Amino acid sequence: MSASNSSEVGRALAEALAAVEAAASLDELKAARIAHEGDRSPLAQASAEIGTLPPAERAETGRRVGAARSELREALSRRQAQLEAERDQQVLVTEAVDVTLPSARVPRGARHPVTMLADRLSDVFIAMGYEVAEGPEVEAEWYNFDALNIPPDHPAREMQDTLFVAGSEGDSGMVLRTHTSPVQIRSLLTRPLPLYVVSPGRVYRNEAIDATHSPVFHQIEGLAVDEGLTMADLRGAIQAFVDAMFGVGLRTRFRPDYFPFTEPSGDVAMECHVCRGASAKPGGEPCRVCKSSGWIEIAGCGMVNPRVLVACGIDPDRYSGFAFGLGVERGLMIAHGVTDIRDTMDGDVRFSRAFGMEL
Ligand code: DAH
Repeated sequence: MSASNSSEVGRALAEALAAVEAAASLDELKAARIAHEGDRSPLAQASAEIGTLPPAERAETGRRVGAARSELREALSRRQAQLEAERDQQVLVTEAVDVTLPSARVPRGARHPVTMLADRLSDVFIAMGYEVAEGPEVEAEWYNFDALNIPPDHPAREMQDTLFVAGSEGDSGMVLRTHTSPVQIRSLLTRPLPLYVVSPGRVYRNEAIDATHSPVFHQIEGLAVDEGLTMADLRGAIQAFVDAMFGVGLRTRFRPDYFPFTEPSGDVAMECHVCRGASAKPGGEPCRVCKSSGWIEIAGCGMVNPRVLVACGIDPDRYSGFAFGLGVERGLMIAHGVTDIRDTMDGDVRFSRAFGMEL
């Protein structure tokens, strides 16, 4: 273009202003700036040409080109300010934080219902002066069976579907403990008499999983050994336990049973806490919880077999004791109407949450 040609300068300015106006973003404006204000732009070239013009034309042309360039500069900075304001407005919208929205709460963890119940059961006995005793889950057969008066050829070993583990402890093979009763032996061998302990813990059986069976579950064991303990003390302890768990007023029933480590042995049932026995009476509404028997079996129990005391070096003429054992999942199912034991193991918080969020 020719700097002295006023219409060319005018056109270059018009094109430049149109490009500035058309720039829809800061990037586009930057491109327009380079094209129309940069060193190689028509107006910059026109400026550069001024020195080559005849002296008479320089002043006039200089003013015109200068005016065009300053108009463009102003247009650029106006558009720049506009686009920056639009961008800032956009940022305010897209990056807005509504501080009044409810936060995405990460729920705090809580103990599992089985753990909570095992703790509650333990607490009932702790309140009566018992101590908590624990034992290993991989247990020597001697503790799990022999010392509990279950010798190798005893049919009682078949009562419990044992999972055997490679290895040995002394002469004894190893098993996953099938019950918490071996903790009785460990306690008798290590603690001074008189002795009152509860032992909650996990136990294992070689069983297929179904609605009422699981190869892994929890038991809680109780053991008292003292001078002069009788079945009356056993019955009292069980009754106190039922009172604490279900409220005062439910009767307990003891019937003969057989366990090698207790003699005599019994099974404990409590009056059904749902129908209170009404379903078993003539004309009573059927009860699903006790299957209309009026009673719910909750524990095995008995007077510690003197042979167990002897195996632990305790004089059975001086000391006697009682013991009991019950299933924690079973207790949870009875107390809360859970019909499938698998619900207690799935780890689904929708199940656990219903039991509260105790830490
Ligand atoms: N250990 C028994 C079982 O798992 C339960 C049991 C019965 C424990 C009688 C006891 C007891 O302490 O006295 O089947």
